[in-house]
Amino acid sequence: MSHLLSLPVKFFKARSDGVITSRLDSVDGIRNLITNDLLAIFVDSAFIFTSLIMMCLFSWKLTIVATISSMAMLLLYRSMLADYANKKSSHLIAEAKRSASILETLGSIEQIKSTNTSAAHLNHWVGLTKNAGSIEVDLIGTVEFAKFVRGLILSAEVFLVLYFSMKMVGSGVMTNGDMVGFIMLRLSFFGKLEQILEQFKSISTLKVHFQRLDDIMNEVPEPESQVRPDGFDIEFRDVSFSYENNNILEGVSLKVSAGSNIAISGKSGCGKTTILKLIQGIELPTSGEVLIGGVSTKDIGSNTLRQSISVCMQGDQCLFEGKFSDNISMFDPITSIERLHTVVFQSCLESYVDSLSNHFESFMAGGETLSGGQMQRIVLARALYRGTPVLLLDEATSHLDSATEAELMSRIKNSASIIISVAHREETLKLSDTLLTLEGKKVVQRG
Ligand SMILES: Nc1ncnc2c1ncn2[C@@H]1O[C@H](COP(=O)(O)OP(=O)(O)OP(=O)(O)O)[C@@H](O)[C@H]1O
Ligand SMILES: [Mg+2]
Repeated sequence: MSHLLSLPVKFFKARSDGVITSRLDSVDGIRNLITNDLLAIFVDSAFIFTSLIMMCLFSWKLTIVATISSMAMLLLYRSMLADYANKKSSHLIAEAKRSASILETLGSIEQIKSTNTSAAHLNHWVGLTKNAGSIEVDLIGTVEFAKFVRGLILSAEVFLVLYFSMKMVGSGVMTNGDMVGFIMLRLSFFGKLEQILEQFKSISTLKVHFQRLDDIMNEVPEPESQVRPDGFDIEFRDVSFSYENNNILEGVSLKVSAGSNIAISGKSGCGKTTILKLIQGIELPTSGEVLIGGVSTKDIGSNTLRQSISVCMQGDQCLFEGKFSDNISMFDPITSIERLHTVVFQSCLESYVDSLSNHFESFMAGGETLSGGQMQRIVLARALYRGTPVLLLDEATSHLDSATEAELMSRIKNSASIIISVAHREETLKLSDTLLTLEGKKVVQRG
């Protein structure tokens, strides 16, 4: 979990929650296999070894028959395990897709209802369930076939042991008591052997679980470094950026110094959000440098960078199950109630908080009782609460009416030393001191 939390935002954006949680389930799978099956294999192996020695004491010839049968069973399982592991892997993947689909459906239930596509989503889920089911049937078939062959080997072994032991008793080489003793021992020997074979079967899936976790474990955590920026002025030095082959920015140079309140506009999809991601170090320039306090974002650790920057990213909508104050402080203990009052005022949330029965102590969950504008203001209050010198707003007030937006922008004007807001509406753009427009992959200053 600690490794997961240290991964970059890009990792989470590239995968659905369902896919990540299903991969995390493999941790439980590995823990169970190691704690239960590996330990049991050691104990059972010791028991089998002791039984073999004791069986030899009764009759080494009959012990050879039992040993050959057990070898045949081991060979059978060995040849079956690779096929079993492959099918188990496909089954885990199919089950993960099915669970991810349930999570995605629940997460977007409003949109599914409003687009009246419940039936289509149900069909999609049924398809995934059928696929998982048919792989499971195939998997069970492999296991049952191995059990059937194992039964045949055991029957042949029982027949041979009985046949030879009765002959040995008849010829006086063995007593009736020895025969009964041997049969009792071989019963427990094969009982334990069957348990071990089942445990081997489970252990063969260990590799599958590790492979599934590889996606998380092989991802490199966000870099940390001891380099501290000198201040927090922002500079783009001849920055170009592309997502794979999609060129977004070309040779952008700009400087934003303390005391700036800047707005960025531009057509949808031109790269405004990308500029904010470059400032936060979530993305690194393809060429050129983004400098914060004179240090390239390549060289500043992400935690250091975030100590200076707060953001309200486009579409940030998350409300946690907890008190209103927890949702502002992100569960950090509140050390200053005045600070809470200040950010509530700056975010124009005071009348909303007054309407809550327990004010700051009111319990919040899900966020379905909030309007779009209220949600945006809570997300903004969260960013303001951190009190960082740089504040980045990506259409953070797009749901507010113009009057509230203007009031809010005037209240937050001095809350950070540098404020950069991305917006589309003319009224919003006018609220900043400087307007930058992104055009043809370049930044142009308008006013
Ligand atoms: N992670 C990504 N991988 C690949 N392409 C991406 C990624 N994120 C964004 N893009 C593409 O980069 C371009 C710029 O995206 P960006 O989000 O910066 O646009 P924007 O100006 O903020 O748009 P909008 O006003 O609609 O929010 C778009 O064409 C988008 O499809
Ligand atoms: Mg955007």
